[in-house]
Amino acid sequence: MVDVESFVADATEEIRAELGDSKAIIALSGGVDSSTAAALAYEAVGTQLYPVYVDTGLMRKGETEEIEEVFGYMENLRVVDAEERFLDRLAGVTDPEEKRKVIGEGFIREFERVANEVDADYLVQGTIYPDRIESEGNIKSHHNVGGLPEAVDFEGIVEPLRDLYKDEVRDVARHLDLEEIIAERMPFPGPGLAVRIVGEVTKEKVEVAREATAIVEEELEAYEPWQAFAAVLGRATGVKGDNRVHGHVVAVRSVESRDGMTARAQELDWETLQRLQSRIAGTIDNVSRVVYDVTHKPPATIEYE
Ligand code: XMP
Repeated sequence: MVDVESFVADATEEIRAELGDSKAIIALSGGVDSSTAAALAYEAVGTQLYPVYVDTGLMRKGETEEIEEVFGYMENLRVVDAEERFLDRLAGVTDPEEKRKVIGEGFIREFERVANEVDADYLVQGTIYPDRIESEGNIKSHHNVGGLPEAVDFEGIVEPLRDLYKDEVRDVARHLDLEEIIAERMPFPGPGLAVRIVGEVTKEKVEVAREATAIVEEELEAYEPWQAFAAVLGRATGVKGDNRVHGHVVAVRSVESRDGMTARAQELDWETLQRLQSRIAGTIDNVSRVVYDVTHKPPATIEYE
């Protein structure tokens, strides 16, 4: 375990030395790593830092507002409203891999635009030690903006968390007074709600996934899941009032896990399940059915696409 105070002192000194008078950007995702790297870099160089948050329209309820609140003290924070562009990019895309690719490229285009606009020389990234090990081993590519260093001609890349493990990053986050909600938040995938919608992403389905996920997070908080969310699977017939409707099928997923590599579906009591279905089908207009996903990982993955 690192000594947090001396880590912060050394890291800020190092960032200052590396950047000199240059400007830097950092892609904020709302996750712990990029949030902590941004807070450290801001502490080091203040207004030379341009934190960029891209609102893809695929975020959880209230997430963008939270980012604006938590990082509003950074003078050069840029919140990019890219919802329409992402929905346009995703129109007609049904293949899961293609979906991820389209979103990854979309992120790069958005950041590229801001980096060129502010004339940033450096890129700050929240890469942590396990990311480096996994990337070196080519296990998976981690960063939603992984192609950014190639797309923009940066003078250098600064990775202040490169030697830390996740729990150490959380310690640093707490030390820097990053809101509890960010330091303790459930993991959320880079492609956002898009991987919780089976098939084509539309504004309506995103809205259903977002509203239903907010209900699931609230109802299942006491179960302390590793991740709990709602996904939109397709359509099925139901009855609302006097009418038969062809509404959305919403799946509730709640899993326990240590590292996301394997996971177990949580055992929920009937009353909780019924409250979930009643709130989700009862308050979200076009939902006709709610199901609970009892599949562990493997054979399923945690996300749906
Ligand atoms: P799966 O669905 O593969 O997910 O069982 C394992 C863990 O990784 C998260 N996940 C992602 N995180 N970008 C991310 O930053 C992604 O593309 C991505 N896909 C999955 C998922 O939420 C779970 O915690």
